[in-house]
Amino acid sequence: MDATAINESGPARSAASITLEDIGKTYPDGTVAVGDFSLEVHAGELTVLIGPSGCGKSTILRMINRLIEPTHGRILIDGQNILERNPVELRRHIGYVIQNVGLFPHQNIRTNVGTVPRLLGWDSKRTNARADELLELVGLDPARYAKRYPHELSGGQRQRVGVARALAADPLVLLMDEPFSAVDPIARGRLQEEFLRLQATVRKTIVLVTHDIDEAVRLGDRIAVLAEGGKLLQYAPPAELLAKPDSTAVSDFVGADRGIRRLAVTPLRQAMIPAAPGAAEAGGPTVDAEGTLYDALAAMLASDATEVVVVEDGKNVGVVTRTSIFEVPEAEAKV
Ligand SMILES: Nc1ncnc2c1ncn2[C@@H]1O[C@H](COP(=O)(O)OP(=O)(O)OP(=O)(O)O)[C@@H](O)[C@H]1O
Ligand SMILES: [Mg+2]
Repeated sequence: MDATAINESGPARSAASITLEDIGKTYPDGTVAVGDFSLEVHAGELTVLIGPSGCGKSTILRMINRLIEPTHGRILIDGQNILERNPVELRRHIGYVIQNVGLFPHQNIRTNVGTVPRLLGWDSKRTNARADELLELVGLDPARYAKRYPHELSGGQRQRVGVARALAADPLVLLMDEPFSAVDPIARGRLQEEFLRLQATVRKTIVLVTHDIDEAVRLGDRIAVLAEGGKLLQYAPPAELLAKPDSTAVSDFVGADRGIRRLAVTPLRQAMIPAAPGAAEAGGPTVDAEGTLYDALAAMLASDATEVVVVEDGKNVGVVTRTSIFEVPEAEAKV
């Protein structure tokens, strides 16, 4: 445990664990937004909170950065109780991204991204260099975009600026409340892809709220399914949640088509039939060995084939067939 972790703005630590211990929020009018909620968020992982409208997702997120004060419970970041800290100072070490971003309209993009570094007292040279580095990282060329104002960007571009701003001071934790829900489905898919690549680079501890089970499955290392009052129904990695929902409430929530969703989170190696030595080069569809069953099935459907050749480092290492795909779920469900 590092007692000074959240005081540091330097590169010493880049991700922290979050422990929520029996936290709750009851409003003065008696509304129990969150009853009694506990969760361990692992350092460097992306944890998704999902559940119906009004179940307390945003409340939980906002208790982590103390925009909402819990009525009871403890919140630890890397073992340190953040409820004992100055909330304003704390928030400088916690990135926060919301729907529609909340960029400052009268500041240009570079100034927006540099908000927290400036608050932390960085000089303008360092702040601007950091802002440009982040813009680059989220796929916005600083030469083109740094001097623009928020209204001169598309919704998806603004969302990326929001992510850049949240990451600017290298926070230990990133909180994201429905970050991609305001953009159209195609832009959303692209943003999700980019975001996965970004997370592979920065490896932050992220808590992301969504309504969208496909987004949860796509982005989450773990998914927490909540019911009203912040009741935790299940907390598991996506493949496990889809394979073994542990209540009817969860299986209803993940949907009747969860079998199809599972294809997208199941490595195709699980359905691969290894190539016989000296197997002939096939002229049919191929798929990369790092792909999923979804990729394999898509390749087969696109070329009307019944099998697809699995390629690794330029070599054919096996095949996946339509039959072998559909044999996987049974085998895997017993794990
Ligand atoms: N100031 C308040 N006073 C009383 N009740 C409140 C207050 N703010 C929020 N609530 C209630 O707390 C509950 C949880 O709200 P919260 O915003 O956390 O839900 P959510 O899961 O994020 O929903 P959504 O998916 O619609 O964003 C809701 O029932 C809401 O009406
Ligand atoms: Mg909400």
